[in-house]
Amino acid sequence: MSGGVRRAGRRLITLLRVDARGSLQAVATRDEAQYPNWFVQYAQGYFERHLTRYAGKPGIRFLQIGAYTGDATAWLLDRVLTGPDAILVDVDTWSGSDEEGHEQMDFGEVERIYDSRTARMRSAGRLIKHKGTSKSF
Ligand SMILES: C[S@@+](CC[C@H](N)C(=O)[O-])C[C@H]1O[C@@H](n2cnc3c(N)ncnc32)[C@H](O)[C@@H]1O
Repeated sequence: MSGGVRRAGRRLITLLRVDARGSLQAVATRDEAQYPNWFVQYAQGYFERHLTRYAGKPGIRFLQIGAYTGDATAWLLDRVLTGPDAILVDVDTWSGSDEEGHEQMDFGEVERIYDSRTARMRSAGRLIKHKGTSKSF
């Protein structure tokens, strides 16, 4: 969930989560002009088509290689990995790669956004963060 403000070439987005009491809580802010939401742009349709059939199933484990700011992470935990003991493991170096667009990014900031929006899910044991290469994992 997010809300945004456009300001002089920037597109500030506040990332929101519903807390345990059902209230909306701001968990992170990011400039989507600098850190685009690639998940919504390119992947969400495929996830909806192929992964929603697993929604609510108990004990399933998903592995995501390349978690970035956690857009797919949040979607999976909100929409699919909702059953008892369902777990997501995220693997990322949080240092980018030679993909177009990565060179202008501060990957320390990418990881801070990921950490602040996923803290509650990690402490609840629903999400495991592994910082390293896919090969090291
Ligand atoms: C396109 S982004 C991932 C987008 C994300 N899945 C989403 O939906 O928002 C690519 C990510 O892969 C990570 N990455 C690139 N090479 C990697 C590797 N060898 N091992 C782990 N992570 C890697 C980068 O740090 C970057 O965060």
